[in-house]
Amino acid sequence: IHNISFGQSTEASAIVAREIADLIRSKAASGKPCVLGLATGSSPINVYAELVRMHREEGLSFKNVITFNLDEYWPMEKSDVQSYHYFMHEHLFNHIDIPADQVNIPDGTLSQEEIKPFCIAYEAKIKAVGGLDFQLLGIGRTGHIGFNEPGSHFNSGTRMITLDYLTRADAAGSFRGLSNVPKKAITMGINTVLSAKRIVLLGWGQNKAEILKETIEGEISSTVPATYLQEHDNTTFVLDDAAASELT
Ligand code: F6R
Repeated sequence: IHNISFGQSTEASAIVAREIADLIRSKAASGKPCVLGLATGSSPINVYAELVRMHREEGLSFKNVITFNLDEYWPMEKSDVQSYHYFMHEHLFNHIDIPADQVNIPDGTLSQEEIKPFCIAYEAKIKAVGGLDFQLLGIGRTGHIGFNEPGSHFNSGTRMITLDYLTRADAAGSFRGLSNVPKKAITMGINTVLSAKRIVLLGWGQNKAEILKETIEGEISSTVPATYLQEHDNTTFVLDDAAASELT
């Protein structure tokens, strides 16, 4: 693990966006697709804003990009403003030239019986396009990456999970109350994430400081699923000063 700490998250986000843009361009130059694993939430917003700016102002093309989002609430309509489907289109996909059929997001509209086959197909599709070249992550205060809550197995793949109380409480504000937050979600697994060739985790603000200390300096354990990242050989934690403030 490499830790890079910055004063300001906007500055750090621009550097992460630059790495993604360089990867997209180098893959395009050799005629290859660039497979990106993407996150939602507040953490990656400025990375997406910077990628949109580079598309508009610097001609960065996403025609060779294939994306797989980490997770989606269940049940959840795609048109719902709380959906991760909506979030991704609003912050990124509507503003770039990625072909619609190269965008993959777990489907919150599936029936219970459809979920397992969907998850197996999601894994197969990631493998079929050559695996994730780059995975962008945030971290939840439970230590989740994607929605892999405490107890998630090292070998887990894409699946339906039950959200922790703290995760739902943290989301309650944007859902106008805890009772409106879905109890379940579909998420890529720990193994899915760790199979990425490169991982960058974004952490901003004081309220992430404690879980980031446990993640980076604690013992590897399913109690804090993000600690599994310690076993990955090409992961960087990009933190602002407040998020890095508890690190020794
Ligand atoms: C979102 C995701 C989650 C978030 C995490 C942090 O796709 O997988 O793990 O990254 O809950 O959320 P924010 O960035 O809103 O603090």
